[in-house]
Order: sequence, then C-alpha cells, then structure tokens
Amino acid sequence: MTQNLSIVILAAGKGTRMKSDLPKVMHKVAAREMLNMVIDTAKKSQPKNIVIVISEEMEQFKEKIIKAHPEIKISFAIQKERKGTAHAVQTGLEALSKISEKVVILYGDTPLISSQIINKMIEKTDDYALCVLGFHCFEENGYGRLVVDKTGHLERIIETKDANAKERKITLCNSGVVTVQGKLIEKLLAKVKNENAAKEFYLTDIVGIAGEMDLKRTFIETHEDEVLGINSRFELAKVEGLKQNQIRKKMMESGVTMLDPNSVYFSYDTKIAADVIIQPHVFFGPKVEIAAEVEIRSFSHIEGAKIGAKSVIGPFARIRPETDLGAEVRVGNFVEIKKSTIKKGSKINHLSYIGDSEIDESSNIGAGTITCNYDGYSKFKTKIGKNVFIGSNSALVAPVEIADGAVIGAGSVITKDVDKDDLAVTRAKQLNLKNGGKIYHEKKSQKNK
Ligand code: UD1
Ligand code: CA
Repeated sequence: MTQNLSIVILAAGKGTRMKSDLPKVMHKVAAREMLNMVIDTAKKSQPKNIVIVISEEMEQFKEKIIKAHPEIKISFAIQKERKGTAHAVQTGLEALSKISEKVVILYGDTPLISSQIINKMIEKTDDYALCVLGFHCFEENGYGRLVVDKTGHLERIIETKDANAKERKITLCNSGVVTVQGKLIEKLLAKVKNENAAKEFYLTDIVGIAGEMDLKRTFIETHEDEVLGINSRFELAKVEGLKQNQIRKKMMESGVTMLDPNSVYFSYDTKIAADVIIQPHVFFGPKVEIAAEVEIRSFSHIEGAKIGAKSVIGPFARIRPETDLGAEVRVGNFVEIKKSTIKKGSKINHLSYIGDSEIDESSNIGAGTITCNYDGYSKFKTKIGKNVFIGSNSALVAPVEIADGAVIGAGSVITKDVDKDDLAVTRAKQLNLKNGGKIYHEKKSQKNK
C-alpha cells in the first residue's frame, strides 16, 4: 500500500573530488549506481512519488534511472544553480503536483541508509513537525551539529562553518536525512535566508525556524556507517567495503558457507541458495543466481549466469553473461563460458572456450576444446547433443551441430555437422619411421660437439 509520502533525493552536487567525467551519484557500489541504491531503499517506504533533484549534467541519465525502477513514478527537478540544500529541496517540491502528508529528504551520495531508519522517522513525523537523523562523530569534521537543550530536545542545527568553538565540540552531527510534515515544509523553506558563511540557503535552518514557530521537532540517532557520504574515491571504496560486509553477512545468515568472506565480492543482486560453498577469492558480477549445494572454487569470476544445483565451478573458471548451467554441471580450471546453455551432468573440466553454444545432458568436453564462434564479422552457434564425447584439443567451427552419442577424435577441426552416434576425426595420418628418433639424436649431438 502506498503511503501519503513524497521522497526528495538531492543529487545536484558537482562531485569535484571524485575527479570523474561521470556524475558522482552514478558511480557504483556493489555494481549498483549509488543513486539507484538510494531509490531502491526509498521505494521500500512505498511513497506516492519520488523526486530527484539533479544538475544539468545528470539529464542524460534520466531514462536509465527511470528504467531501473519501473514500478514507481520518478520525476526529476533540475537545479540550475547550486544555492544550497534548502533551495534544492524547494526545487524538488516544485516538480510535484501535490505535496504529500509527509516529505522525506535523502541524499543521492549517501547510499547505505536503511529503510528501517527512514520508516522510524516517518512515524515520528506523526507527532513532530520534523525529525532529523543524527549520529555521533568523534573526529574533526565538517558536519552540521545538532544543538540539543538540557532536556534533550532538538533546538537547531549549526553548520561547522558558522559554529563557535563550543558548538564545534558537539559530537552529535547531522546526517542530512530529514522528514517534514507536508503542510509545513513550504512555509519553513520560505523563511530560510542565506546569511551565513557559505552564502547558501541551508536546509538545516528549518529546525531553528520551526522553533520560532513553536513547532515540535525531534531527532533520532543511527551509526555513522549508515550515513557515510561519498565525496571521493577513498570514501567510495570505504562504502563499498561496508556494503560488501552487509551482503556477506546476509549470505551467511541464509546458509552460504564462505571460507574467507573478506575475499569474496558480490553484486547488489547476487542470489545464492543455501548450502553453497564458496572458496576464497571469488567475484560475482551482476545478475548471478546460484542454486543449492553448488561449490565455487577459488579464483572464479562469474557474471550474468545461472548455475544449477550441485554444480562444481572452478578453480579459475570464468563464466560470462547469458550462461545457464543445469544441475551437476562441472566447469573446471581455465574454462571460459559465454552465452551458452549447458544441461545436467555435462563436464567441461579443463582449458576450454565455450561460446554461443548449447550442450545437452551428460556430455564430456575434453581439455582444450574451443568453439570457434566468431569469424571476425559474425557470431555463430555450436550445438552439442546428449552423451557426446569431444576429444581434447578439438576446434568446433561454428555453425556446427554434433548429434547425440557422437564422438570427436582428439585434435580434430570440425567444420561439418556430425550425425547421431558417429565418430568424426580430422587428424592427419600418423607416420612412424623405423629408428628415425635414434638417427635424429646422433646427427644433433655430433653437430653440437
Ligand atoms: C550537509 C548539511 C550538514 C550535514 C551534511 C551531511 C546543510 C546546509 N548542511 O552539509 O548539516 O552534516 O550535509 O553530509 O544542509 N545539494 C544539492 N543542491 C545544492 C546543494 C546541495 O543538490 O544546492 C545536494 C548535494 O549534492 C548533496 C547534498 O545536497 O548530495 C548535501 O550537500 P552538501 O553541499 O554536500 O552539504 P554539506 O556541506 O555536506
Ligand atoms: Ca556533503
């Protein structure tokens, strides 16, 4: 059920410190753009609408963002000039035809915020004009400080730049996340002035303004990790680390064994069933689904693939997008598989490239088999039936079909289809010369004397 709620996400920041051509909020954490992560979380509170405040440089990404969230209405408001967070929120609200009962303000560069905390704040906003999310920070920092009175009530927020020495000692800081009653937000914003050190319209001023209007305001606290903002590549890596740890923990809680969790990297959407065992140093790119009791051995790189129950992958396997492996498949060391379907019980154990292929059940693909799927211009398919045996070091030149039960002799270059139960071999005939080896050795050793 949707709530009478609007969510405004501020994402018009320049992100200069990222030193990047890509807008900051389009950088990825666990393979998901940080802005999309924030939207993913925002969606869980089931708002009526989400408005994203962006700069002009972000306009080219609008379609991509809308596409990533088909189930919810997303609008964009362009903030042409950066005049501060209050101005940004005002710009966002202008894009709404009607402001909901409650408004949540999030930052596009703070992607670890949880929906539990957002929901808690939304609840608080029943009884308070606004609720601020605070956290304790004991190091020197540039955050706004929450000024709280003797009875523990939030009075106002002071930005570091404008704070006096005493205020700077306050450890309770502003995360930036705030919920405000819809009927009050425009009135509060209208009173914000830019008479401060940054000459900006501070959103944080609405707390003090609400006080002057005798409105009740409150705050809740969270851990600093949840509200870490990303401004640099260093902070991007820090947030990546925190996110990976969250995913690892969830995986283990749902029954996945990892021998060395810190060396396994997941994407935001990785799905792994119970009783999967993952050895050290494994990387999962986006869109991976692994069924129960699979074993993934060290140094495997897997993206865009489904892996069936009880399969064994690696060590040193590379599985690329659009690959679908059935149950009990074996993919061994130095095997690359791309855009291929491999059915139950088939084995590709050593040193192979399988691309644009279909392999039916219980076939054995020998060491060094290569599907030659590309002629430099187009891609072609290889089809292999059930119970086929491909001898080592064979080249299967696509398009080609090898029917059920067929056998390919080692070292063959197969360019024509092979019928059911046939044996194909393209090897040149072997020539043995009597004592030829001995003669060779004698000649060579004399020369070298
Ligand atoms: C802000 C808060 C500060 C808080 C800190 C938490 C204000 C005045 N200060 O400070 O209390 O501790 O965040 O990280 O709100 N943005 C726009 N348009 C603008 C200005 C900002 O979209 O005109 C966006 C930025 O892209 C960013 C967010 O708003 O996502 C915060 O802006 P930023 O300039 O980083 O604020 P801080 O000075 O860090
Ligand atoms: Ca900031």
